[in-house]
Amino acid sequence: MGTQRRQTIRHLYGWTILIVAVLSQRCHGTCPEKELQRREEEANIVLTGTVEEIMNMDPVHNTYSCKVRVWRYLKGKTMVNGEVLLDGGNKVMIGGFGDPGICDNRVSTGDTRIFFVNLAPEYMWPAHKNELMLNSSLMRITLRNLEEVENYVEGM
Ligand SMILES: *[C@@H]1O[C@H](CO)[C@@H](O)[C@H](O)[C@H]1NC(C)=O
Repeated sequence: MGTQRRQTIRHLYGWTILIVAVLSQRCHGTCPEKELQRREEEANIVLTGTVEEIMNMDPVHNTYSCKVRVWRYLKGKTMVNGEVLLDGGNKVMIGGFGDPGICDNRVSTGDTRIFFVNLAPEYMWPAHKNELMLNSSLMRITLRNLEEVENYVEGM
């Protein structure tokens, strides 16, 4: 009796793990991430930077902006000027984190990423004036990722 019960429990346990594994893969797979080339084309500015401060939490939409220290522009450096530049010129404000239309849309302070952004369009003013808006998923900085993005930028 006892052995059989234990076996049943083990069986259930195994099935649960399998189902959870399949479901989590599914969920991950359904986020409609575009191809990197499309993402590069849609973003007028691509930069690498580190999140220094999280601010302007929107309690309704659960979105937020971050002050980001810029390390390098992979694309669109000349578009970033004037009041978009903060603290003497090497920081920018990026908005749109938490946007459900973007798959990987969350950061913590200290995260260093590749950011695909556009200047905030006028209809988003005044809330996002002089901000850059996240346009697609955050990307980890690896040699391979940097090379891939740079290749697309140069290919234009
Ligand atoms: C990204 O930018 C393109 C324009 O280049 C725009 O059509 C699209 O809506 C933007 N996507 C997001 C999530 O803001």
